[in-house]
Amino acid sequence: MVEWTDFERATIQDIFSKIDYASVGHQALSRCLVVYPWTQRYFGNFGNLYNAAAILGNPNVAAHGLTVMRGLEKAVKNMDNIKSTYTELSVLHSEKLRVDPDNFRLLADCITIVTASTLGASFTAEVQAALQKFLAVVVSALGKQYQ
Ligand code: HEM
Repeated sequence: MVEWTDFERATIQDIFSKIDYASVGHQALSRCLVVYPWTQRYFGNFGNLYNAAAILGNPNVAAHGLTVMRGLEKAVKNMDNIKSTYTELSVLHSEKLRVDPDNFRLLADCITIVTASTLGASFTAEVQAALQKFLAVVVSALGKQYQ
């Protein structure tokens, strides 16, 4: 089981209480699709992903960004059980969607970058460390079905 310090627990709760899920999710997923264009192949039913402006303006991308953040919220609320919380989601991404698990980390990094730019000066190195640890646990739990 993953051990969390009081600071890490408080920081994760604090970050997710402060950020706007719709905005961070939209920006993070858009960034992922622009920076790592091979991730677009999983969203063939989303319509126009032709360039960065099209991706940012695509309502399916915005809606799915929010879905991802709501998925993350489940981990925020179950920090001591992230692996079992994500069993179904891991099965979905591996067996049905066949998402290459390397991509989870790429989206997680985009979430870190957008959170950093949203929180500004309060995103200290210690806050970043807590968020990266949390997202690493999420990424590992999502990848569980692949091992
Ligand atoms: C669907 C979460 C990473 C591709 C979903 C859903 C959630 C979710 C909650 C909806 C599941 C449902 O409908 O029951 C996450 C989280 C991620 C992550 C928390 C990592 C932080 C990725 C990555 C990709 C991806 C990296 C591809 C590059 C998809 C696709 C769907 C999906 C294609 C189905 C979309 C649709 O057609 O509506 N994800 N996901 N996910 N995810 Fe992920």
